[in-house]
Formats: sequence, structure tokens, C-alpha cells
Amino acid sequence: MADPAPPIAVVGAGLVGAGWAIVFARAGYAVRIHDDSARVRDGVMTLIAGNVRDLKSFALIDEEVESVLARISTQSSLETAVSNVGYVQESAFESIDVKTKLYAALDKCVPASAPIGSSSSGIPASAFTQHSATRHRMLIAHPVNPPYLVPLVELVPAPWTDPAAMDKVFELMRTVGQEPIRIRREVEGFVLNRLQGALLNEAWALFDEGYASAEDIDKTVAVGLGLRWSFMGPFETIDLNAPAGVADYAKRLGPLYHSVAASRTAPKAWGVELTSKVEAERREHLSVDDLDKRRAWRDRRLMALAAHKKKAAMDFGS
Ligand SMILES: NC(=O)c1ccc[n+]([C@@H]2O[C@H](COP(=O)([O-])OP(=O)(O)OC[C@H]3O[C@@H](n4cnc5c(N)ncnc54)[C@H](O)[C@@H]3O)[C@@H](O)[C@H]2O)c1
Repeated sequence: MADPAPPIAVVGAGLVGAGWAIVFARAGYAVRIHDDSARVRDGVMTLIAGNVRDLKSFALIDEEVESVLARISTQSSLETAVSNVGYVQESAFESIDVKTKLYAALDKCVPASAPIGSSSSGIPASAFTQHSATRHRMLIAHPVNPPYLVPLVELVPAPWTDPAAMDKVFELMRTVGQEPIRIRREVEGFVLNRLQGALLNEAWALFDEGYASAEDIDKTVAVGLGLRWSFMGPFETIDLNAPAGVADYAKRLGPLYHSVAASRTAPKAWGVELTSKVEAERREHLSVDDLDKRRAWRDRRLMALAAHKKKAAMDFGS
């Protein structure tokens, strides 16, 4: 009988770390969660159990809920959490200082064969692994929240990351059902948040200049652009939106998009006054007290979409 796969450690058990634990456990891995906050460690299993139950109710896991949960343990000691693991997924605060200190600690205790992926949303690995002795096996493995419902993972090497570590994490991500992509070199925000940022910056600017309400800008995506984006990206979208494909589209509409881009040469920060106007409009629709309820609603809609995509993949192979 083959040896069981080594366990996986998740370090930092907030929103994202808890989500990663589900990704690895539902794929059959033993998962050890470490967080330096006892409050977080005490609460994380309740959060995870609720999410795994929801997955079961949408038929997104075949196993019993309890079997998935039985593979996950919490550990108060970082050293115990990472001993004998095959991979570490770091999901601590988005702070160079916090991550630098944590990587110095990981340096001393992670097994030599285990790569370490960081969930960092935009800080490149070179900003916090430069002085690590083990920096050749550290990389970014940036998920989308919640990772057990949105499969994309951006893998981004630091200049010193060993390509073999990239390959190993790429394979692991595929094995656990995620969709990894390789970013060829470091760039602030990576690809996902640069794309998201382009849309957000334009949304704030259009609102600021009074062209439309926040609600109508949101609608443009929710019942417009976003419908196609749940199954195809911007290049494929425009490839299908001109009779002869992407080059035809570029000929027809390239000048318009270039002119729009040229009109935004001085991006503005999301200032306090502007933020308070968007905040006021959002709070008319949803009170702060109801944010959690709406997050749970969003996750259930995502589960329904994931179930639909799973069925479509079985029916049509895509
Ligand atoms: N929230 C998102 O939408 C999202 C999406 C993708 C990636 N990320 C990235 O994932 C990482 C975690 O984000 P989050 O939203 O889960 O944050 P969070 O604040 O919910 O959780 C961070 C957790 O890390 C723990 N922590 C901090 N320092 C630690 C240390 N030295 N050792 C052990 N635990 C430590 C904290 O106690 C906390 O529980 C960040 O780098 C973030 O940018 C977040």
C-alpha cells in the first residue's frame, strides 16, 4: 500500500486560512491549522464546520461532513503544525513586517522538502523572503476568497524561487481541485488584483464624477459584464464579440478603448470624502449589521454557481 500523503499546514486561520483548510481536507489531506491567536484557533472549527455543511447541502462534496472535518486539527505551536508536512500555506496578515517575522520562524522548522506558498494578495514574495535561508522554495499562491468555492490560484515566483517548487505547488493545486496559473515574474497586485483594480478604479472615478450611482455601476457588472465573466475571460469575450474574432474587434473598438485609457492619466486616490459618499449609498441598501448575512447569501449563490459549473463540466466537458 502506498504511503499516505504528508499532511499540509495552514498558518494563519482567518477568512482565507480557514478556506484553505477546507480545500486540502476535502481532497483527502490531513490539515494542521496554526494561528497565533487563541481566540481564532478556538473559533475556526465552528466556521469550517458550517462551510463544509453548506458544501454538502449543495452536493459539492461526496463524503460525509464529519469525515472531512476529522482530517483537520488546530495546533497552538507553529513547530508542531509544520513538522513532517509536505506543504505550508501561509495566510497571515497582509503586512510585510508580519510576514517577514513569520518567514524567519518558518525558516527554522519547515521540513526541507516542503514548499511554502503565501496567500499574499499583492505583496510580492521578494518583499518578505529576501533574507530567508529557504527562500528558494517560497512563492506566492494567491487564492480568491473563499478558495473552496473559487478555484483560481495565482502562483508567482520571487526572483530566487526554484522552478521545481513552482512545479510542485502547481501539481498540488491541481490535485486538490484548484485551477493554478503561473505568473512569469513579480508584479505588484499580480494579475488578478491588477485586473480587479482597473475595474475598481474606473468605478470610483465614474461615481466621483457623477456619471452614475454606485448601485447602477454595480448593476453594470452584476447583470451585465459579470454574467459572461463567470465562464470566460476578457480576451475570449472580445474574440466572440466581432464577426472575425479578436483582431476584428481590436480594429473596430481599439481606438475607443485607447481614448478611454488616455483620459485617465492621473488616477486619484480613494479619498475620505469620496469613500464616505459610497459608504453612505451602500449603507442605504445594507446595514453594517447585515453584512455577515449578505456574505452568507453570497457564498450560497457561489455554491449554486459552483454546482451548476460542476454539472455543466460533466454534461459538456467544459
Ligand atoms: N480576504 C480576502 O479576500 C483575501 C483573498 C485572497 C488573499 N488574501 C490574503 O490572505 C492573507 C490572509 O488574509 P485574511 O483575509 O484571511 O486575513 P484575516 O485577518 O482574516 O486572517 C489573518 C490571520 O492570521 C493570523 N496571524 C497573523 N500573524 C500570524 C502569525 N505570525 N502566526 C500565525 N498566525 C498569524 C491572525 O491571527 C489572523 O487570524 C493575507 O495575505 C491576505 O491579503 C485575502
